[in-house]
Amino acid sequence: MRIAVPRETAPAECRVALVPESCKKLIATGYEMSLESGAGTAAGFPDDEYRALGVTVGSDPASLVGSADAVLKVTVPASGAAQRLEIESMRPGTIYLGSLMPLRNLEAVRALAARKITSFSTDAIPRTTRAQAMDTLSSMANISGYKGVLLAAVAFNRYLPMLMTAAGMVRPAKVFVIGAGVAGLQAVATAKRLGATVVATDVRPEVKEQIESVGAKYVGIELKDSAAAGGGYAGALSDDDQRRQRQLLAEQCAQSDIVITTALIGGVLAPRLITADTVRTMKAGSLIVDLAADGGGNCELTKPGETVHAGGVTILAPLNLPATLPYHASLLFSRNLTAFVEAFTKDRVFQLDRQDEIQRDSLITYAGEVTHARTRDALQKAEHHADTVP
Ligand code: NAI
Repeated sequence: MRIAVPRETAPAECRVALVPESCKKLIATGYEMSLESGAGTAAGFPDDEYRALGVTVGSDPASLVGSADAVLKVTVPASGAAQRLEIESMRPGTIYLGSLMPLRNLEAVRALAARKITSFSTDAIPRTTRAQAMDTLSSMANISGYKGVLLAAVAFNRYLPMLMTAAGMVRPAKVFVIGAGVAGLQAVATAKRLGATVVATDVRPEVKEQIESVGAKYVGIELKDSAAAGGGYAGALSDDDQRRQRQLLAEQCAQSDIVITTALIGGVLAPRLITADTVRTMKAGSLIVDLAADGGGNCELTKPGETVHAGGVTILAPLNLPATLPYHASLLFSRNLTAFVEAFTKDRVFQLDRQDEIQRDSLITYAGEVTHARTRDALQKAEHHADTVP
């Protein structure tokens, strides 16, 4: 079986789906490997490193994906663009594996289904111990949490640590982290390492202990209705819980120098947690880094991808932070994809097994159908909307 790795084409996307280390492993497993020339360059993996392992390096993306049995990418395959027709060039039945983010990329899902591609999205795998090694969401969220704090430290007009200097003492910055999942806990740990005083909150009860274990103080409201939506995901809060949480967040934001927000509902949607009124109560010179910007943002004033100045408060809303650390992001992403492929390889061939929990949950399109229920619902809603809007 031949696996192809095309170059990523999304703007500012510097990652590559497979690094040389993984190609070596997959070749040893029995796969033939092809790479589009330059695919790894921006991440720090030149063509020669792949060639030295026996990977075929070519420059025509259409023949690369057209001659492959499986195509591995970081993000969605290109479609419909005159110069790049990845989906259209794949043969029906080709396996696609990557982080499709299907709910945010309905057009690509539609095109994959129309082309009868067997597509798997690593962000839809179940949150089980067995699937952990394949979990690109966690690998990438870790990077976002780390990089988000570094961005804050650079943009902040003060020190983060406490310092005793000959000119007197400098107080540590107070960092408040909202949402303590993978990104949030890494943000807590990174801010602690930089010497800040850190407070964090979440709506899942098990998180208190995790926050404390990385050295931060937990704050939170006692929820009247559970916000746990299963599988490690949070659901939406009831109206009453929302009101009480807003009050707590407003109090904490007003006392903080840096607020890092990472909250997501169901892993996709960003709840609006910081209102414009709350921003107005924050100290001049304080910062919000909205790491939920890819999902719309946790702050009412966030503009995804832009920096907003509101009164004396700066709101950063970086998009796709993992791509700004492309070497390690690619290394970890590549290990996740390799774990997925290897787990289902028998006799040098990838085995489709729709009864397997991991494949069942992460299969997005198969034989012309959209098999992933939430994506199918979203597509039906989008089609219904298109029909009813004049
Ligand atoms: P996520 O990206 O879906 O959400 C980020 C965080 O925001 C979560 O901790 C969530 O509880 C929190 N949140 C949602 N609404 C909020 C609100 N109104 N206020 C404050 N916080 C809010 O979650 P992530 O980071 O992907 O994972 C969450 C947990 O799932 C992890 O801590 C881990 O325990 C578990 N997990 C398990 C995996 C496995 O076993 N394979 C893989 C990934 C995660």
